[in-house]
Amino acid sequence: VQTTRAQTTVTLPLVVAHRGASADVPEHTLAAYAKALADGADGLECDVRLTRDGHLVCVHDRRVDRTSDGRGVVSTLELADLEQLDFASWAQPGGAYDSIEPGGRGVLTLSRLLDLVASSPRPVQLAIETKHPTRWAGRVERSLVDLLSAHDLARPRPGQGSSVRVMSFSTLALRRITDLAPALPLVWLTSRARLGIATPRAVAGAVAGLPSGVDGFGPSIGLLRERPELVAAAHERGRSVHVWTVDSAADAELCARLGVDVVITNRPAAVRAALHGS
Ligand code: G3P
Ligand code: CA
Repeated sequence: VQTTRAQTTVTLPLVVAHRGASADVPEHTLAAYAKALADGADGLECDVRLTRDGHLVCVHDRRVDRTSDGRGVVSTLELADLEQLDFASWAQPGGAYDSIEPGGRGVLTLSRLLDLVASSPRPVQLAIETKHPTRWAGRVERSLVDLLSAHDLARPRPGQGSSVRVMSFSTLALRRITDLAPALPLVWLTSRARLGIATPRAVAGAVAGLPSGVDGFGPSIGLLRERPELVAAAHERGRSVHVWTVDSAADAELCARLGVDVVITNRPAAVRAALHGS
């Protein structure tokens, strides 16, 4: 998307919905992703974990306690157990979430989310974040690449419909993906807290040290505010920049001014309005 401001043409960041339109609808539910698409999001972000019986499901936390009416660790439960749970149960009685159909509030498998993306009449990007890189010794990454390959999504298809990238805070997870699917676009996530120090030298070193095969740099908005020069540094090295979590108009405008490629937000409608002016 391009727009002209004061005789300068800038490319606006793509808007990717973080866990769906999760400020409005319970995160990682089909209803949250449907709302994000209705809000005009260019892409969807999700976290994936592996169940005990080998299904990739979209759940952020190690446990289901915060986001469902159940209890337990995702990796010790089977898909059938998760299918008994309501992932919109924490919504306020009488609130807007009451209107979510039963089919939109259960556990969301990554396979079902891929189907949603495939059925979109317009191209949609999907940013999949792998959690828990150490527990399964590579099984999460293998399962993910197998599933994406089955959907013919393990290679980029420029200009041809929807596309997928994989993100992780773990360089180990990203290296595993590179070995399994060298053409799959990858983003390394980091934050102020994870970097430890954010001196110009430390941030430049982090950008310069991105493993080969990693196409994108994914700083938190806090790190970007502190070190805005990281956008130019990443671009100079041919890396795209994906910033999370960008929920205010001021932060969205900062990202646009700096030339950030993707903003990841819980509020796709508001951030789109801030960027596009409507
Ligand atoms: O998009 C990156 C962001 O989602 C990373 O943090 O904890 O929300 O998965 P988290
Ligand atoms: Ca995430």
